[in-house]
Amino acid sequence: MAYVFFILFMLIRVHAWFKKEEMMKRLIAGNWKMNGTMSAAIKLAQGIVEAIQNDSKVLENNDFLVCPPFHHIVPVQAELSMAVSLGAQDCSPYEVGAYTGDVSAAMLKDVNCDYVILGHSERREYYVESNDLIRQKAAIAHENGLIAIICVGETEAQREAGEEQEVVGKQLAESLPEGATAQNTVIAYEPVWAIGTGKTATTDDIAAMHDFIRGQLKAKIDNADTLRILYGGSVKPSNAAEIFAVDNVNGALIGGASLKPEDFIGIATAG
Ligand code: 13P
Repeated sequence: MAYVFFILFMLIRVHAWFKKEEMMKRLIAGNWKMNGTMSAAIKLAQGIVEAIQNDSKVLENNDFLVCPPFHHIVPVQAELSMAVSLGAQDCSPYEVGAYTGDVSAAMLKDVNCDYVILGHSERREYYVESNDLIRQKAAIAHENGLIAIICVGETEAQREAGEEQEVVGKQLAESLPEGATAQNTVIAYEPVWAIGTGKTATTDDIAAMHDFIRGQLKAKIDNADTLRILYGGSVKPSNAAEIFAVDNVNGALIGGASLKPEDFIGIATAG
């Protein structure tokens, strides 16, 4: 009798596992950073749409997102098909008013953005963005119906000192706002030393960190198994398959390789 229960239990577990795997498409996200002219951005968007049309099977396992510079968002949107979502690379922590140079979450929603990248290590480093500020931005992004892609990651010195989990754990604990859910939040793990350097973390390092992040999320968020955790840092078609094969990697946040349609879509088809 116990055997029958055990087998039934296992069948239910396996079924649930397959359902989860089947439900969670990868998110292939392009962070265009501060690159390109208006015409180059439009050409890039057209190239991405064309590459997807030429290989539409790629949509079975992948959702696509591009995050252009602010002023390219509207013209890029005019080129995108329904298959590619639109996001920004930052937003203001404030709702509206006298904040020179800022773009609000509501303004992004108004031009049909669904996502916003927050706390990228370049913003943490060059603009001294703190976890507190990132949490405020994420909260206002959520209030305005945007999905916040919250970036975390350690520097080379922190990894060498064996502090990577402590650093990422603190970033997660302090940058995630109260209302974060598996639906309105994506985490991007980007080791700072792997960004734009051609160096990627080993698959063992990625597995250990993504597993750690999943554990931290489970302690904080319902259904944390369905929250996407992206890897970022020198992802390209030639290393995408091994990265996507790692447990708890649910997509990629791509810089350099997202600026060429064949590489961006090639990353999705490789894995
Ligand atoms: P690269 O893919 O150029 O290393 O950049 C990664 C990144 O910072 C994405 O946000």
